[in-house]
Amino acid sequence: MEVKKFNQIGVSFKGSGSYVPDQILTNQEISKKVNTSDEWIKSRTGISERRISSVGDNVTQMGYEAALTAIEMANWDVKTIDLIVLASSTPHDLFGSAPSIQAKLGANNAVAFDLTAACSGFLFALITASQYLKGGSFKRAIVIGADQLSSFVDWNDRRSCILFGDGAGALAIEATNEFDNLIGFDMRTDGERGSFLNLQSKNIKDSIIDNIDFLSGGYSPVQMNGQEVYKFAVREVPIILENLFRKTNYSPDKVDWLVLHQANQRILDSVGDKLKISGEKVLSNLEKYGNTSAATIPLMMDEAIRSNRIKSNDIVATSGFGAGLSWGAALIKWG
Ligand code: UT7
Repeated sequence: MEVKKFNQIGVSFKGSGSYVPDQILTNQEISKKVNTSDEWIKSRTGISERRISSVGDNVTQMGYEAALTAIEMANWDVKTIDLIVLASSTPHDLFGSAPSIQAKLGANNAVAFDLTAACSGFLFALITASQYLKGGSFKRAIVIGADQLSSFVDWNDRRSCILFGDGAGALAIEATNEFDNLIGFDMRTDGERGSFLNLQSKNIKDSIIDNIDFLSGGYSPVQMNGQEVYKFAVREVPIILENLFRKTNYSPDKVDWLVLHQANQRILDSVGDKLKISGEKVLSNLEKYGNTSAATIPLMMDEAIRSNRIKSNDIVATSGFGAGLSWGAALIKWG
């Protein structure tokens, strides 16, 4: 049986970091490839441009850069990190990219593994890592969200390719025996509605020798029923957040910031309206980055922390949602 090493009751937030590739793809540039326009994309999604990986960029590299900046903010010796969880649907190595990030960081006392839950991935990873910390097994963790969907979208499908971009974000969290700044959380999945958003393996039948088949690898591009995903998000996200407020005895008026998965500005506005959280508290950076999947929440948080919007002791309500279908929410106090 695992022996509890520490007597902990909660987690605190010590640092944030992020990274995006240099290459920028604007709406005008996409309209040279597919039949769309800056006006359409901007008005339907709020997105103006996104970052696209080029040679040298991949989830391991981006995740490493984001983790490193979070560790620098936390002022940690990398040798004191016990756990690294990477949320990604597009790992550089399908066997797992987190150990490569561990190696690049030199965090050789940590255990590192990947976790997949699409655009809810960062939130699911944050909650997972927090449980290890609260359980007393580990003291310091880096939680990373990183995705490179530009390699998996169909660049001829105007209904989906306009949405996505690449990037990474990370938070440094630490166990504490005094308080718990992860005030509450909830997680949900509904595989019955999974067909609304997929990135499935091709599994094309081939043969090894006569009479013995195998299914060859590779992935089909992202398939998305945008309208259904949109309806799911604007319905479920307010519900999961309202339930979380009720469970934790919080209310929307006590929230300093709403940090939602950056999927579409209209989804952000709708959720903010339903919860009666005023627009200036609903953080958004999707104009610059589009939907970076597991990276959006830590990328947004890092930007807000570094620009002094999210400050120590601020209450942040956050929710991730997407393929699976999966969705989750967490209420945190920064610091
Ligand atoms: O992490 C989760 C990831 N996914 C999401 O968050 C997706 C959520 N859904 C959405 O954000 C929106 O559904 C989209 C932005 C994807 C689409 O916006 P919409 O307002 O739901 O558009 P629609 O699919 O209802 O399409 C309306 C029209 C259609 O034309 P017709 O059939 O009415 O003539 C589409 O063919 O807009 C057309 N259209 C476009 N036109 C110009 C679809 N995509 C484009 C485009 N440019 N890129």
